[in-house]
Amino acid sequence: MAVVKANAYGHGAIETSRTLIRHRVTRLAVFSTEEGVALRQAGITVPIVVLGPLFQEQFDDLFAHQLTPVVSDPSVLTALGQAAASHATPYPIHLKIETGMGRLGLTHDQLEALINSRRFPASLQLEGLMTHLSDADGSDPDSTEQQITRFNKAKKLVLESGFQVPLVHVSNSGGAVRFPSAHFTLVRPGIMLYGYHTLPGTVEAPDLRPVLSLKTCIAHLQTIQPGGTVSYNRTFTAKCLTRIAVLPIGYAGGLNRHLSNRGYVLVRGQRAPIAGLVCMDMVMVDVTAIAGAAVGDEAVLIGQQGNEQITASDIAEWTGTIPYEVLCAIGQRIPRVYHST
Ligand SMILES: Cc1ncc(COP(=O)(O)O)c(C=O)c1O
Repeated sequence: MAVVKANAYGHGAIETSRTLIRHRVTRLAVFSTEEGVALRQAGITVPIVVLGPLFQEQFDDLFAHQLTPVVSDPSVLTALGQAAASHATPYPIHLKIETGMGRLGLTHDQLEALINSRRFPASLQLEGLMTHLSDADGSDPDSTEQQITRFNKAKKLVLESGFQVPLVHVSNSGGAVRFPSAHFTLVRPGIMLYGYHTLPGTVEAPDLRPVLSLKTCIAHLQTIQPGGTVSYNRTFTAKCLTRIAVLPIGYAGGLNRHLSNRGYVLVRGQRAPIAGLVCMDMVMVDVTAIAGAAVGDEAVLIGQQGNEQITASDIAEWTGTIPYEVLCAIGQRIPRVYHST
């Protein structure tokens, strides 16, 4: 089950989903009903699981577009059961168990109460049982092992009470790589589909290649005299005659403002440091050391140019975050261009 929420981690949910389906992925996961509807409207017909919390206002869209909800709350289960009562066949749902993420899911007590009450709505079909791992990419595997144990206990309870659950899923990317005992019938990778992981160095990671590049070009060039400053609040002062290139991307396009005076971009195969504060729609870079830098030159923010490479993990390190956030932040207004493989 490929996770394509948050616009497929910034890559563009529709094209990414089509590509994954071409590569024989049979099921997708999104966060919200709205994300699922957008995929259906683009003609995607494979089963789509909605991972996020469910609101009564969304039931109609859910049914109309044949989206499979994850239910994490007994009262939502009851309400959904009532809403589905008029359907000719039981509506498939996945039930989420809380095992240590501290986020969504039925506690063991809630699950036990549900099973003992025999009040699972007849209008719903328990197609899937799931939980989410909180520390699959952490250095200590113990808490994940404990989550798997708790989940197995919940699964036993469900199966012994007579439910047949065709889909059982637990693993995100970290779980899929590190915990074979958490593979069950499906895995739910997100970040590794896009060529990244956050596994500790002690774990052998698969050979992943980043899927996405983020590129722009030099829109303007100017020479700044020594003592001249660049961008808001004058945080960059030229020490010598300095060539400054203006790039038409800023924090509104996903370029984190913490890259100000800190990050790099690639121009003519060399690293050009960011000069001054990142603006909303523009950023300036120091190209003094890059001979021949000219208006129109390609500038690579994420990706390879010549022998140099900048990854979303590099940007995450420079800005104190994770590659997930770097990728998801790439703004809707940035045109996505797809190269078929
Ligand atoms: C419920 C759930 N499953 C799977 C994933 C995929 O995780 P990852 O991108 O670490 O593989 C996520 C991502 O946040 C998630 O929330």
